[in-house]
Amino acid sequence: MEANNERVVLITGASRGIGVGLAEGFAVPGARLALTARRRTSLQETCRRVEALGAHALPLALDVRRLEDMPAVVDQVEAELGPIQVLVNNAGVNIPRPAEQVTEEQWDEILDANLKGAFFLTQEVGRRMIPRRRGTIVNVASAAGLVAREERAAYGSSKAGMIMLTRVLALEWARHGITVNAVAPTFVETDLAAQTLDRPGMREKILGQIPLRRLATVEDVAASVLFLASPQADFLTGVVVPVDGGATLR
Ligand SMILES: NC(=O)c1ccc[n+]([C@@H]2O[C@H](COP(=O)([O-])OP(=O)(O)OC[C@H]3O[C@@H](n4cnc5c(N)ncnc54)[C@H](OP(=O)(O)O)[C@@H]3O)[C@@H](O)[C@H]2O)c1
Repeated sequence: MEANNERVVLITGASRGIGVGLAEGFAVPGARLALTARRRTSLQETCRRVEALGAHALPLALDVRRLEDMPAVVDQVEAELGPIQVLVNNAGVNIPRPAEQVTEEQWDEILDANLKGAFFLTQEVGRRMIPRRRGTIVNVASAAGLVAREERAAYGSSKAGMIMLTRVLALEWARHGITVNAVAPTFVETDLAAQTLDRPGMREKILGQIPLRRLATVEDVAASVLFLASPQADFLTGVVVPVDGGATLR
């Protein structure tokens, strides 16, 4: 694989949280980054940061639940930036609820964004990578896809599904020279985690469950994603890196 600075990278969910850190991590001079979120205007700050680091940013609106929009978005990325070499499926939502209270609408919102959206975007990009015989996909799963956590019936199922999807795609697409890997972070201080971390007593409880006694940072997650997308990881596929300070060891 060529040097990092010549790559075209598509990152979903780049408007906030981990996605901003991923964009900054990939933003070396010469890199061409396609950044997506539901609203194009929400990507302005990420684009500013990426361009300040010397990379080119292309902001695009994509709701990953709208499969019908994917071909045009991927077409636009490849027409403006060139063939996509790296896809990072980072867009995701959580609605923590006791299982007995989860509505069909909430279930669908979570599964459609986190699992169905990631699969069909990967399919859209993968169909173009296959004839080129190169490409790498990194999925942002979650420690909640590896171990059971309360109030995560839908979210945990979506992330466990994403982990199995990573393995199946790695197996199927190895013959095409495409690698597929995942990261599974524990709690990171973002809007998504605030719903849990900001409840009384929860932060202390969660820290007590992480052997290294701190939350993951956006930079911790970005470092593992960057590694999985780097030439140093060329022989890794189907791997799930737990970015969790040891939280899933027991
Ligand atoms: N924070 C954690 O503790 C943690 C731990 C493990 C894994 N993760 C995973 O890390 C990823 C990023 O999470 P985060 O913590 O950075 O969350 P966040 O701060 O809430 O950001 C979520 C990102 O996903 C985008 N998004 C949400 N729904 C979307 C949709 N339907 N279509 C397109 N984009 C959508 C959001 O963009 P817009 O709202 O602007 O469209 C935003 O850019 C998620 O997959 C999450 O499950 C997070």
